[in-house]
Order: sequence, then C-alpha cells, then structure tokens
Amino acid sequence: MSNAFVTRSLDEIRFWSRIMKEHSLFLKLGFRCEDTQLINEANQFYSLFEAIENKANSYTAATDPQTIQQFNVEVHNAASHIWVFKRKILGLILTCKLPGANNFPLLVDHTSREAFYFRTRLEQLNAGKLDPLPDAIINENVFFLKIMADHAKFIGHLLDPSERKLVDQARQFSDDFDKLLFQAQDLDHMRPQSQTVPLLDQFLDQNRVSVKSLRDFKKTARDLIEACRIKSIIHPLLADHVFREAERFLFIIDMFDNALTGKPMPTARFD
Ligand SMILES: [Fe+2]
Ligand SMILES: [Fe+2]
Repeated sequence: MSNAFVTRSLDEIRFWSRIMKEHSLFLKLGFRCEDTQLINEANQFYSLFEAIENKANSYTAATDPQTIQQFNVEVHNAASHIWVFKRKILGLILTCKLPGANNFPLLVDHTSREAFYFRTRLEQLNAGKLDPLPDAIINENVFFLKIMADHAKFIGHLLDPSERKLVDQARQFSDDFDKLLFQAQDLDHMRPQSQTVPLLDQFLDQNRVSVKSLRDFKKTARDLIEACRIKSIIHPLLADHVFREAERFLFIIDMFDNALTGKPMPTARFD
C-alpha cells in the first residue's frame, strides 16, 4: 500500500461518485410522477454518492492507505447497490411495467455498465491487482468505445428531430464508434498475439483521433444547449456529463500511450 494507491483510489472515486450521483438524477427525471418509490430510491442514491464525493474531497494524498482501503470497500458497496437498482429499472422497462417513462433501456443499461466498471476498479485497487498494460489497453478501450458509441446514439435520439444537421452528425459518430468498437473486439480476439507495441500504439492513436472529435462535438452541443440555441430534450447536466466521460477516456488513452512508449506518466489528475 502506497501513496500511489491513495491518489489512484481518490481519483477514481472523485470522478465516478459524481457520475453516479448524476445518474441518480437522470433516472429520477425519467420516472413518471406516480413512481414515487423509485423516485425515493433515486433520491437516496443521490445523497449517498454526494456524501461519498464530499468524503473523497476531504481526503488527501497524505491520508492513511488503510483508511482509503476501508473507504474503497464502502464505495464498492454503494456502487454494487446502484448497479442492482439500475438493473431492476432495466427489467421493469423491458417488461413494460413503466409505460410512458422517459429513460431509454440502452441508457439505463449504459449507466449500469458504468457502475459495474467503477465497482471493478475499486476491487482491483484494493486487491493490488491492476491488469498488465497490454490487457488494460484492450479492456479499457473496449469498455470506453462502447460508452462513446452509446453517447452518440443518445445525443442523436434526444435532439429535436428538426435539428437535422446535428442529428446527422450524431449518427456519423455513432457509426464511427461502432466500427472502432468492432476493431477493438478484433484485437481482443487476437490476444495475445495482437499485443505488440506497434499495433497497440496505432490502436491508441486511431482511437484518440475519434474521441477528440467526439469530445469537441459534445462540448459544442453542451454550449449550445446551455445557451438555449438548439432544440432538444437533453438536460444541460447530461450534456456536460457525457463531455466529462470523453475527457476521462482521452486522459486514459494518453496515460496508456505514455506507459507504452516510455514517456513520463501525466500526473496532473492524480494529485
Ligand atoms: Fe455516465
Ligand atoms: Fe456514459
């Protein structure tokens, strides 16, 4: 247990607890007025993750690693519970028990995958067992490319249909990321022979180009929504939320690229 363990854990928790808190809000906004029980549950998760976020912000790199290890267990527990909640909602939607509710099944599934990812990261940190670099590169990219492909689809479906140009752009991003995801899965299936430095480096470079342009598209969409310049049913916080997730993916790509090519690791986000 070391300082790196503490900073790494806090970085993950600070990022993902805010994300989980916002998911609770988005889910709540999609329920019908009569779904009071589900709305209450969503509110409880909002408070839970808000408290976790505050606690994470009160710790520093100098906090005792054992305290952080305990904290990781506590947060892991919360992430498991919100995962169960999200899967329950998915089940209700897919069996038509919430007719007229405004959450897409793919969005609910998507947020549950993010909760599961968060949970897994905490498990790995506490076990001191991060994936070896070549495996981490493929696993993280397979995860995040699907996340990005989903975001493009959500944006395309939540923009007003009259925003034809933007809907078209969102569909192009969706196709682009579907292809990148297939390519990542091809590399995955060709393991371990596919895990050469040149192939992985090219993989990261190619993904970075598309993630950067999607990130810029999300930033533009966010700014236009905030300024009320386009027609949509996208909550401004959702626009910012998906933008931050793209930034996170870019940061991870750069971190892998530096580790692969022996450049010093960026540390800014871990401080
Ligand atoms: Fe999210
Ligand atoms: Fe997401």
